[in-house]
Amino acid sequence: MNYKNPDEYGYYGEFGGAFIPEMLYPNVEELQRNYLAIIESEDFQKEYQFLLKNYVGRATPLYYAENLSKKYHTHIYLKREDLNHTGAHKINNALGQVLLAKRLGKTRIIAETGAGQHGVATATACALLGLECIVYMGEIDIQRQAPNVARMKMLGAKVVAATSGSKTLKDAVNEALRDWINNPVTTHYVIGSVVGPHPFPDLVARFQSVISKEIKEQLKEHIGRENPDYVIACVGGGSNAAGTFYHFVEEEHVKIIAAEAGGHGIESGKSAATTFLGTLGVLHGSKSLVMQTNDGQVIEPHSISAGLDYPGIGPFHAHLFQEKRAEFFSINDDEALQSAFELTKLEGIIPALESAHALAVLDKKTFNENDIVVICLSGRGDKDMETYLKSYEL
Ligand SMILES: Cc1ncc(COP(=O)(O)O)c(C=O)c1O
Repeated sequence: MNYKNPDEYGYYGEFGGAFIPEMLYPNVEELQRNYLAIIESEDFQKEYQFLLKNYVGRATPLYYAENLSKKYHTHIYLKREDLNHTGAHKINNALGQVLLAKRLGKTRIIAETGAGQHGVATATACALLGLECIVYMGEIDIQRQAPNVARMKMLGAKVVAATSGSKTLKDAVNEALRDWINNPVTTHYVIGSVVGPHPFPDLVARFQSVISKEIKEQLKEHIGRENPDYVIACVGGGSNAAGTFYHFVEEEHVKIIAAEAGGHGIESGKSAATTFLGTLGVLHGSKSLVMQTNDGQVIEPHSISAGLDYPGIGPFHAHLFQEKRAEFFSINDDEALQSAFELTKLEGIIPALESAHALAVLDKKTFNENDIVVICLSGRGDKDMETYLKSYEL
């Protein structure tokens, strides 16, 4: 089974494609025609790899978490994406896409952001490479991720509030798409996850695939073999997960686990666990699993973590789910908080709330004592300190 690469129309099984208004067609078509040739060119790779190493700080460590391993009676490695410049995996994609935009002759960059990490990463890449940057962000997220809003502004980006719907990530994507329709010639839309019309899911997955490429090389060094028994990552749209799974999806002995945001619980009406609650639908330009009513209205999601507060999931993951290639867990807000405090206490690492959802799988699944379990620590928790402090006081 081919899990990694979509077909020429951008389909992973029955999921994917490009469902776009006519006005977006020239932009999307331009990308579809050019993205592979550009990003695979020697010249592009030279510049991108140089920046990943010298600017982002890659390779990120694959850290053996000894205390956590003892507690869960297994072998746990953390892929430290939190140690990237700007504090999360998002920079791998943002930098790649801004380099691509420059080669397409674009001068203006737009992006959406939930937790603010993708906004910060895009604003950073634009500062470095000299492009104008506008970031759309839900009004609620502007409040709960205030430190990242300040960073974006300092980096020279304009932050525009999305005030419709639940005022979170979905609404920010809507605003960004609207902007792109109005500015088709000058502007590139740097989508922050493996969502959106083809070729975005594939483009973003390729830029994030450096995560699993490095895991393979580093495991070989640590334990003499490339493949772990398990890889685990949290899924909002699914970019850190796609990067973590990418080079393992066709290794049938590697088990894949995705953690979604359960919010207050799947049955509570305040959740973002798309594979549990979603049905086939079209959201933001691609066919995938979507939380929606019977007549196709998107159901407002909820998660304590802004980065997972999304009613859809990338087509790459919907396909893994449908084919039962990956096991999906729903992690509630309180379980994620507990795991964040546990990692902090045991290993001295404060994770992002999003990444804490992946860590919480350790309480849901029993591993063997010889298993090698790799968890993607997608980002650091600086942006979440206010939420952590509030829950600590309670
Ligand atoms: C640290 C971190 N992890 C995970 C995510 C979720 O996004 P994705 O599913 O695309 O990795 C975000 C999104 O903002 C994030 O900031």
